[in-house]
Amino acid sequence: MGAPANDELRTNLHRMWGSVADGWAAHADDVDARSAALTAAMIRATEPRAGDRVLELACGPGGTGLAAAPLVEPGGEVVLSDVAPEMVTIAAARAGALGRTNVRTRTLDLEAIAEPDAAFDVVLCREGLMFATDPAHALFEMRRVLRPGGRVALAVWGPQARNPWLGILLDSLSEQVGMPVPPPGIPGPFSLSDADRLRALLHDADLADVGVREIELVQSAPSFAEWWDRTVALAGPVSMILGGMPAEGVQAIRARADAAAQAYTSASGLDFPAVSLLATARRP
Ligand SMILES: C[S@@+](CC[C@H](N)C(=O)[O-])C[C@H]1O[C@@H](n2cnc3c(N)ncnc32)[C@H](O)[C@@H]1O
Repeated sequence: MGAPANDELRTNLHRMWGSVADGWAAHADDVDARSAALTAAMIRATEPRAGDRVLELACGPGGTGLAAAPLVEPGGEVVLSDVAPEMVTIAAARAGALGRTNVRTRTLDLEAIAEPDAAFDVVLCREGLMFATDPAHALFEMRRVLRPGGRVALAVWGPQARNPWLGILLDSLSEQVGMPVPPPGIPGPFSLSDADRLRALLHDADLADVGVREIELVQSAPSFAEWWDRTVALAGPVSMILGGMPAEGVQAIRARADAAAQAYTSASGLDFPAVSLLATARRP
């Protein structure tokens, strides 16, 4: 398995994530709340226990690893890691605010994990693998850093049409610019939304007990304006494209998204359905 291709693309993608880190810091608690059922399922599937070493990859503000941290006491440790140092700083601050003494942070690329072989009992990755330029290679890396018998749980978004909380923004943007966003060949939030492909990738990485299942979530916002602000702040590629557009273009996209969002009006504002794919496996 060679090194991932296209270093320039990877470098740009990694920088792009760093550029939206402030948005992730501002909305970290919302993100954890909207993903709570997913996080719980990831924890149940991997059963972190006292003494375990847990690695969270693509951690962003670190909500998944932080949920595992109390479970590995005494004697265990959680490493929160992300390719963007700005995200790692946020995760470290959140761990500090919680007074967690068994959490370390590291800047790590999930496509080339700078950790020794067989160093972890559990690998967690919530909504990160689909941004890899070479997810097959990334899965080999996850397997490599797991000890034999070690468990992995990773979540990726299901199909775009079933995730209107983000899909309507990408559709509105694509219509405005007259081409798909993200363009073909660029990894995006729905790059691994085919459950069969995901399952095959885990099998091909020589992982055992592979399971892929859907977790249904609801993404709520009190108003369209709040949904827009939060989603744009978090969606790295979108935020960059909008930042480079004239104000009328952004307004047109916003108006299209507003019209599409009306279908999800609820008593409390907006309730968008969301579907994540939870993949679980162990290193034989
Ligand atoms: C959608 S966010 C998810 C953050 C976090 N896991 C969560 O669920 O709150 C995607 C994260 O993946 C990180 N990321 C993207 N490519 C990565 C890579 N190659 N290696 C490690 N992290 C990566 C980004 O910096 C970002 O923090």
